[in-house]
Amino acid sequence: MSSGKINIAVYPGTFDPITNGHFDLIERGARMFDKVVIAVAASPGKSPNLDLKTRMALVKKVCASLPNVDVIGFSTLLTTMMHEQGATIILRGLRAVSDFEYEFDMAFMNRRLEPEVDLVCFMTSQDYMFVSASLLKEVAKLGGDITEMVPPDVAQAVYKKFELPVEEV
Ligand code: COA
Repeated sequence: MSSGKINIAVYPGTFDPITNGHFDLIERGARMFDKVVIAVAASPGKSPNLDLKTRMALVKKVCASLPNVDVIGFSTLLTTMMHEQGATIILRGLRAVSDFEYEFDMAFMNRRLEPEVDLVCFMTSQDYMFVSASLLKEVAKLGGDITEMVPPDVAQAVYKKFELPVEEV
């Protein structure tokens, strides 16, 4: 029975850049929740390669076909931003056991900060188990092919950032 409540899930991340693995998770989240808010973190401590505006623009472009997906940027605590959005569900993806340990720590910290908040983790689809934003940037920097790991607009933006012509790969 429906409670009439809108289920909003927030998918936070640095998205430097958004990958096919992220998109797979977003599509699945959009099927499960009424609304998915992709929250692109400024994450200055990670010194992202792409600036926040570019990362948000790429996420918006890649998710344009999903009507119940919104994209926002944030530089506050995740729980503060979620409170502002009226959301209590955090959506994240798990690729490996190492991801689980990290998510476990973050989930406990977030719950301590905001007891209403709950974490929903999706197992990454098998095709994207190996896709990692940091590894694909290393591959791109050295002229390797990343076109199977990210959408075409994202590959172009990454190659442009590293001043590599797309046709070189
Ligand atoms: N230095 C530089 N880059 C790093 C890094 C570091 N220490 N740690 C991770 N990265 C890079 C990697 O490229 C990684 O991608 P990959 O795992 O696909 O290779 C990418 O950043 C993603 O890192 P990760 O930490 O797994 O997740 P995220 O950055 O996508 O999401 C947030 C983390 C945004 C959810 C979390 O930092 C957050 O909630 N921030 C808001 C502030 C807050 O509330 N903090 C308290 C959280 S309990």
